[in-house]
Amino acid sequence: MTNDAVVDPSGTQAWKELQEIAVSTANISIRDLLTIDPSRPSAMTYVAGGIHADFSRQRLSPTTLSRLLELARQTGVLTLRDKMFAGEHINSTENRSVLHTALRLPRDATLVVDGVNIVEEVHQVLDRMGDFSNAVRSGAWVGATGKKITDVVNIGIGGSDLGPAMAYLALEDFRDRSISCHFVSNVDPSDVAVVLERLNPETTLFVIASKTFTTLETMTNAGDARRWLVDALGEAAVEKHFVALSTNAQAVSEFGIDTHHMYGFWDWVGGRYSVDSAIGLSTMIAVGPANFGAMLSGFHAIDQHFSHAAPHENLPLMMGLIAVWNRNFLKIPTTAVLPYSQYLSRFPAYLQQLTMESNGKSVRRDGEAVSYDTGAIFWGEPGTNGQHSFYQLLHQGTSTVAADVIVVAKTAHAIGQQQDMLVANALAQAAVLALGRTEMEVAADGTSATLVPHKVMPGNRPVSLFMVEQLDPFTLGALIALYEHAVFVQGAIWGIDSFDQWGVELGKKVALGILADLTKGTAQNPSLDAASLADMNTYLTLR
Ligand code: F6P
Repeated sequence: MTNDAVVDPSGTQAWKELQEIAVSTANISIRDLLTIDPSRPSAMTYVAGGIHADFSRQRLSPTTLSRLLELARQTGVLTLRDKMFAGEHINSTENRSVLHTALRLPRDATLVVDGVNIVEEVHQVLDRMGDFSNAVRSGAWVGATGKKITDVVNIGIGGSDLGPAMAYLALEDFRDRSISCHFVSNVDPSDVAVVLERLNPETTLFVIASKTFTTLETMTNAGDARRWLVDALGEAAVEKHFVALSTNAQAVSEFGIDTHHMYGFWDWVGGRYSVDSAIGLSTMIAVGPANFGAMLSGFHAIDQHFSHAAPHENLPLMMGLIAVWNRNFLKIPTTAVLPYSQYLSRFPAYLQQLTMESNGKSVRRDGEAVSYDTGAIFWGEPGTNGQHSFYQLLHQGTSTVAADVIVVAKTAHAIGQQQDMLVANALAQAAVLALGRTEMEVAADGTSATLVPHKVMPGNRPVSLFMVEQLDPFTLGALIALYEHAVFVQGAIWGIDSFDQWGVELGKKVALGILADLTKGTAQNPSLDAASLADMNTYLTLR
């Protein structure tokens, strides 16, 4: 483990100043800030990789932003950023480099890590993925009975599912409609069963996606799929219908997939940072290698911006700092992601893993407990649907929720006025969340006195509004990279390891113990607590 010195952010001068600013500006609302300075939107909009990020509805002033930049300086954020890009082992608890940024380096770049130019390796895999994707798309690759592949089933979970599943929906307008992708993740038997029920083994390709190739859910579902195929077409058919995406060649081979049909990646790609690695194979089959390449270019554009733009113009840096401001100084515990795009319907779920598995930590890299809050809770749904569901709480609930509103300007489906309606709703919600409606304004509408308090909208909910021209592969890559780096900035300030996930391990272990008992039909495990044993007994009676 590399034991680099970790700065306690709460001990820095900048942190103390920011605390004072939070107190002294507590009564200044977003409405005030926008009224006092109408040039605020242009001063607080940052553009990179085709993303226009308007932070003018955040509850902070440009002076506060400059203090936040000072916090970044005092906690060494940019030094850690440079170490990440250079391949140093900044994932200290796992003693690994963190190099998802290398996955999108152009072919002619060089990045030598431990004596190897990893860019060459990355492009070798991309080339093999490209050849395979083209073969599947063109029909040059056929199933065991000579038929073209019409259905691709990605079996994976977490980062080996959420990225490809999200990207498949997001890039609907770019995909080959003669091939459908399906995503099986849950160990709930219904997940795999209903997908297989609809498919023909002769025309189905299974993509088994697992960095470790040991994940219980994935290996169980992959086993089910393999049996289903072998029952229908025989053992010899496996080589035409199964490919593996993994770092673990031995486990792939033991599972019964020839490693010639494996697309590899490296331990320096975290699961939640892997949609742009071999894990993206189903996306590449769906949209083609050129579009996948455009997505990588979008990622790279933001990487370049993050590593080279001056701090005060650096979009991911600003976004991460604002998140820290909201979390630690305004004490806002949660962020709603509200994409006004049906195609981004899985983006909030994707971001949940990216943000919460990365920054849901309470111990710093040096093993010391943190004395301040870390990662916010992320969740969300596309607009306008969410407006008819949970926005009531966003507007008038007792908890303040920060919101990321994502707007896509162009649609491929110009039906009547619908696109303008969609965007009008996004802008309206951003305005109402941030500015609210005062008692006087409500009364001035002629509202009866008894209803006035019910119609007052407190506003002052911080909103970031991200606008892109269209949802294409480049933009999707840029959006993902933006969030990746904003997550990095927050973790760097908090001094935590944003790239490990020890918190998910214990549950997996306990589940295995419970499963052993359930298999025997007993509930006796002495290491289990009374509540678990009681619930196991109920289950054994009901199942
Ligand atoms: O359990 C959490 C996790 O390790 C995630 O970090 C990861 O994305 C997921 O499981 C799947 O892991 P794998 O790709 O190794 O199957």
